Amino acid sequence: MNIAVAGGTGTVGRHVVSIARARGHHVISLSRAAGVDLVSGDGLAQALNGVDAVIDVANTSTLNGKKSVEFFTTVTGNLLRQEKAAGVRHHVALSIVGTEKAAAGYYAGKLAQETLVSKSDVPWTILRATQFHEFAGQMLRRSSVGPLVLVPRMVTQPVAAREVAEALVEAAEAGPRGRIPDLGGPERKQLAELVRAVAQKEGRKRRVIEFTAPGPLWRSMRNGSLVPEAGAAVGRQTFSDWLKTDLNAP
Ligand SMILES: NC(=O)c1ccc[n+]([C@@H]2O[C@H](COP(=O)([O-])OP(=O)(O)OC[C@H]3O[C@@H](n4cnc5c(N)ncnc54)[C@H](OP(=O)(O)O)[C@@H]3O)[C@@H](O)[C@H]2O)c1
Repeated sequence: MNIAVAGGTGTVGRHVVSIARARGHHVISLSRAAGVDLVSGDGLAQALNGVDAVIDVANTSTLNGKKSVEFFTTVTGNLLRQEKAAGVRHHVALSIVGTEKAAAGYYAGKLAQETLVSKSDVPWTILRATQFHEFAGQMLRRSSVGPLVLVPRMVTQPVAAREVAEALVEAAEAGPRGRIPDLGGPERKQLAELVRAVAQKEGRKRRVIEFTAPGPLWRSMRNGSLVPEAGAAVGRQTFSDWLKTDLNAP
């Protein structure tokens, strides 16, 4: 199968590319390094020539709702338009568990993305996953103020990005199925606990301060809006097993 991975250089995208190649697919990465800009659309039409399925794992780091909606609607709109023109038969999108319950800030963009995909003429599959194990490290880097790390109180059920990538490649192979069961990790944790563990593993002297962030979005995340409900698929690798691996491995 010819598979194009939008965001193939990212945290989960790198795994999608390597797993799909290992399973014998011909894979291209749609990212700026490969000459494709998903926001402007430059290089996209040409890259989709002969592609059977697109796996979209592109991302933005903004937490601003307006910017997030703008990014995900632009990227998804560009992809779906060019996929239709190129005769791509399957669009696989990765979203986040609980997106509709936390539909503000960054998550408003994910909901807008899901809406576009589910109304598209291109046959589709949407997988929702929980936060990756890598999310705690992203939080550590983004929320450090000198020796302090400010982490909002939030319950999460982290999953290995590699297992999410496996599920996405399997979804591409299986063909369009609409919304498929959510995927979460094997254990529920407080985000601050995970950030502390990553700081310790990386030998960083940091004091992790857990705080109660204001507003309905954070309240819902504290109350577990981002953890999966019954019936979700459960990943195998625990956060502590992931922490024992080489975190800098490609
Ligand atoms: N992180 C999590 O915990 C988590 C959990 C569940 C679901 N998700 C979802 O998983 C997806 C991927 O997240 P991630 O954390 O793996 O992302 P990431 O590491 O931030 O990677 C983002 C990817 O998007 C690409 N990209 C961004 N802007 C682009 C542009 N204008 N043109 C072309 N490519 C562009 C980047 O490519 P270049 O910069 O190389 O061009 C990169 O490959 C997102 O949809 C996210 O909502 C994430």
